[in-house]
Amino acid sequence: PTNLKLIQEKLCQLKEEGKFEIQNGDEGYSSAPSNIALIKYWGKNLSRKQIPDNSSLSYTLGGFRSFTKVTTQGRFLPETYEKTIPIRNKLYLNSKDIEFPIPEKMDILIQSIFYNFADEITLKIESYNNFPTACGIASSASGYAALVGAIADLLQLKKHLSAIELHTWLTEWARLGSGSATRSVIQSSEDSFIKWELEDSCKESFTKTSELTFHPKWKQLEHCVFVLNANEKKTSSSDGHKSASTSPLHNVRVAGVSKKIAMMTKALKEFDFDLVQQISEEDAFAMHAVMQTGNPSACYLDEDVSKALALFIQMRDSNEVLAFWTLDAGPNLHILYYKDAKQILTEYHVKLQELLDRDIKIFKNAYRGGLLI
Ligand code: DP6
Repeated sequence: PTNLKLIQEKLCQLKEEGKFEIQNGDEGYSSAPSNIALIKYWGKNLSRKQIPDNSSLSYTLGGFRSFTKVTTQGRFLPETYEKTIPIRNKLYLNSKDIEFPIPEKMDILIQSIFYNFADEITLKIESYNNFPTACGIASSASGYAALVGAIADLLQLKKHLSAIELHTWLTEWARLGSGSATRSVIQSSEDSFIKWELEDSCKESFTKTSELTFHPKWKQLEHCVFVLNANEKKTSSSDGHKSASTSPLHNVRVAGVSKKIAMMTKALKEFDFDLVQQISEEDAFAMHAVMQTGNPSACYLDEDVSKALALFIQMRDSNEVLAFWTLDAGPNLHILYYKDAKQILTEYHVKLQELLDRDIKIFKNAYRGGLLI
């Protein structure tokens, strides 16, 4: 089966046949990369279980990863079982000693995964990010992908499911944790381009996540973030998605996404850098226009971001280097670039600090090694 419900039923069946037993103290491990969307997921249908309003396309950030270990812990008492949302799983983030309040949606996700075939299990989750919290990279994509990967390892799903079933199981559960996490599940290489497609059908599974083929020159693409504001964002992505549909621009953007995905898919195959740059930058602006015109409106393109963007575009264009920008639901500038842009980016960093009159940190997707930029 390639449908999550059927796969869960298959697992229940296996459990009933005694084919796999879960013991207290069983462990599972996984790690997953973060990703940056070039064509953004913005807006979702809340009544249809995390179904995005549009397809999206991302670049995998192999150097920014979450590493997660899950351990089964005790069985909970029958009286807690009666509660609808018992907070019984434990989460430790980046530290062995401090228990972190587990987000309700993570608790529900774990309950749903185990529901019907091992619902008496509680988990201890230990997760570590190799990137700082305030570096402009959201940890929910890598975090949820690593969590479902670790649970799959705990359940030894590789033994019980076919490759396609496992792919569906992982991408679907990751999606239910956090939309962008479904694009962090596929890990055939450190860098890849992933498409999360919305399929309009009446079947149970409405979305599909897959890897795109791309020209080998993209293997040299590099990525870094200029952190303009490290403070926690005022509006979370989850809240932002809810107000997307209130913007008069939302439907216009959504209607154009399929065409953008098709054009970018072709541009990635043929190494049409200009087109990838143009679509990415236009879509980031389009998403921010939706954010600004929604109710409540959210504006991340503040004065500093506008200044930083204008300076970047001016320096990039006058030097004709291969580099483009994108922005997520935060005020931090993501730059994707080739080696020939390094010198200009170093000069950009100096000028940007002068312009904003303060230190600006840069974080580089470091798996290629080397110094910052
Ligand atoms: C702006 O995946 O964080 O980064 O599904 O509510 O967890 P939830 O939202 P999330 O949204 C990401 C929004 C974005 C664009 C993108 O990554 O495509």
